[in-house]
Amino acid sequence: MQDIKQQLIGDLKSATTAEQVEQLRVNYLGRKGIITTLAKNTDFSKFSPEEKKEFGQKLNELKNFATEQIGAAVEQSRSLGEKSSKREIDLTAPGAGHRLGSLHPITMTQMELEDIFQGMGFSVLYGPEVESEYFCFEALNIPPDHPARDMQDTFWLKNHLILRTHTSANQVRTLKRFGAPVRAIFPGRCFRYEAVDPSHENTFYQCEGLMVDKNISVANLIAVMKTILSEVFRKEVKVRLRPGFFPFVEPGFELDLQCLLCGGKGCPTCGDGWIELIPCGLVHPEVLRHGGIDPHEYSGFAFGIGLTRLAMMKYGIHDIRHLNSGDLRFNEQFAPML
Ligand code: PHE
Repeated sequence: MQDIKQQLIGDLKSATTAEQVEQLRVNYLGRKGIITTLAKNTDFSKFSPEEKKEFGQKLNELKNFATEQIGAAVEQSRSLGEKSSKREIDLTAPGAGHRLGSLHPITMTQMELEDIFQGMGFSVLYGPEVESEYFCFEALNIPPDHPARDMQDTFWLKNHLILRTHTSANQVRTLKRFGAPVRAIFPGRCFRYEAVDPSHENTFYQCEGLMVDKNISVANLIAVMKTILSEVFRKEVKVRLRPGFFPFVEPGFELDLQCLLCGGKGCPTCGDGWIELIPCGLVHPEVLRHGGIDPHEYSGFAFGIGLTRLAMMKYGIHDIRHLNSGDLRFNEQFAPML
């Protein structure tokens, strides 16, 4: 009995979980437990009455000892278990917080442009990113052997379709579909075979615009561009036109914005005080004809805002590669304050 007691004390020390303690109870006090079988297996016939009495007393002591100790261990393991499960729902712990998503700077710039143009009566249309050669080049006066195709080399698909190199591909689509008069912008993703560096990407965004009506002139083009840019930059801006060549406009221009950083005096960002921003011009008569519009009756202007470039200027982003990086740390910086 002394041995059993010592063994039990040792076992109790190593039993920590409620399950282990319960197993001890079964091992010692259960129907087939060590203490129970000890009483059953003892041959009392050999004992004198005194010995029987003493054995009975000792056995009872051992049983009581075991019952008490195991009972205490059960209590202890229960309260330990309660404590640890309480810890899991500690109501005083600081919250995990919600991660708020944020719009991409290009998306924000695009949405802003869409709002401004819609306020001026322009529709917003989205053409396909996978285009035909016809809409991307031929309908825009760029025949297969034209050098302008070299500057807009792109990704050719096996079925002779291409990834569009500019949103101008939507000009003739729109004219064919809606006829004249028409006023629309086409923001979207474009693709070119470019070596990627801080200012070049193979995937970028433009926002094309087209307005065709009777008596549309360069004066209308300038007025619309000035209004748009003043809205985007939230102040009155100065613009200038330089001649520029694009096969699908005549005359064609580069519209420059007077630098907003130095006010036109000249600085490291702009050089001479002007930033080249929007290629544009009056729609070439041949393009109108492709769209089924009579160039003697109607005229119009088209422009191609570099949406990626505009977003970079607006948000002060110096490396174009951040935009397609998928790095949330970059994106989260532009989340509006709540
Ligand atoms: N599509 C031309 C480009 O990507 C830009 C452009 C658009 C020029 C509209 C004139 C008119 O380079």
